[in-house]
Amino acid sequence: MNTIGLSLPALLLAVLLAAPAQALADPAHSAATDALSGKSVLVTGSTDGMGRQLAIELAALGAQVIVHGRNAERGAEVVREIESAGHGSAVFYAADFASLDNVRAFAATVRERHDRLDLLINNAGIWRQADDESRRVSEDGHELVFAVNYLSGYLLSYELLPLLERSAPARIVNVASRAQQAIDFDDVMLEHDFSASRAYAQSKLAQIIFTMDVAEEFAERGVTVTSLHPATLMDTTMVRQAGVPPRATVEEGVEAVMQLAVSPALEGRSGLYFEGIEEAKAHEQAYDEAAQAALRALSEALTAP
Ligand SMILES: NC(=O)c1ccc[n+]([C@@H]2O[C@H](COP(=O)([O-])OP(=O)(O)OC[C@H]3O[C@@H](n4cnc5c(N)ncnc54)[C@H](OP(=O)(O)O)[C@@H]3O)[C@@H](O)[C@H]2O)c1
Repeated sequence: MNTIGLSLPALLLAVLLAAPAQALADPAHSAATDALSGKSVLVTGSTDGMGRQLAIELAALGAQVIVHGRNAERGAEVVREIESAGHGSAVFYAADFASLDNVRAFAATVRERHDRLDLLINNAGIWRQADDESRRVSEDGHELVFAVNYLSGYLLSYELLPLLERSAPARIVNVASRAQQAIDFDDVMLEHDFSASRAYAQSKLAQIIFTMDVAEEFAERGVTVTSLHPATLMDTTMVRQAGVPPRATVEEGVEAVMQLAVSPALEGRSGLYFEGIEEAKAHEQAYDEAAQAALRALSEALTAP
């Protein structure tokens, strides 16, 4: 980290985004404070882990950041940290993604209080508790990991699409994972064959299938959609709770997400899947049009008001 709180990758991206004259005059300062000035961004699950660091780095580029999670105390801390750095601004809204009504109310608040949205990062997620193989359900009765990791982001994206479209060109980045397992459309809620790793892997593939399915439709409305595996076993609460030794830093994941979020090289590119900072091939089901249609039909039915 340098004195303005930006990691090197974010700083490099900031310099790329800045006007050449400004960059020449004072690369670090002008690029860092101006690149996203006037832009509004929402990072779900930004009270902790990678989302928290993404919120801080996006604010350091001058963005107004909507911080989200369940924990109001940690949300307020992120807002304080952003405001005390003196770059960008932040506001926190709490919403539990285990409830579709909570997602709808959250989206309504964003639409009411913000007149633009340039970037939505669907990052909130859960994995597993160490040695716990119990199946849980959301408030709506859906398998919990599928509900929190995928269905809430699906609904939020559609609820906020008009606002993103008004701010076009805009971007959606879906934070998925390399852990991907084919969805069995006869048992999406895993009532018959539950395992914690399967629940996580199908929810992450669902995010990627969704990305591929809507890529063209959203891009025609000025909103590109991409997905990625940020890094493997970053040192975050999620990984510590699973009882697995971390193997990567949060900064590694942040660099990968920031590329999809702000890199000019990706302007207008929709439907891509990345692993880290490299474009990659996702699980074959992601490209299967029948699977895309089945997930779309299911998601529409599950989120119908
Ligand atoms: N860590 C890794 O190595 C890794 C690898 C590949 C992909 N990913 C993906 O990266 C994303 C971020 O993971 P992380 O490691 O940074 O996790 P983390 O540190 O555990 O943070 C998860 C965030 O999600 C929020 N969240 C969890 N349950 C929620 C719910 N029911 N409603 C609303 N918000 C909720 C948490 O906020 P509250 O606690 O305030 O609710 C928190 O801000 C996830 O999508 C994860 O699947 C992570």
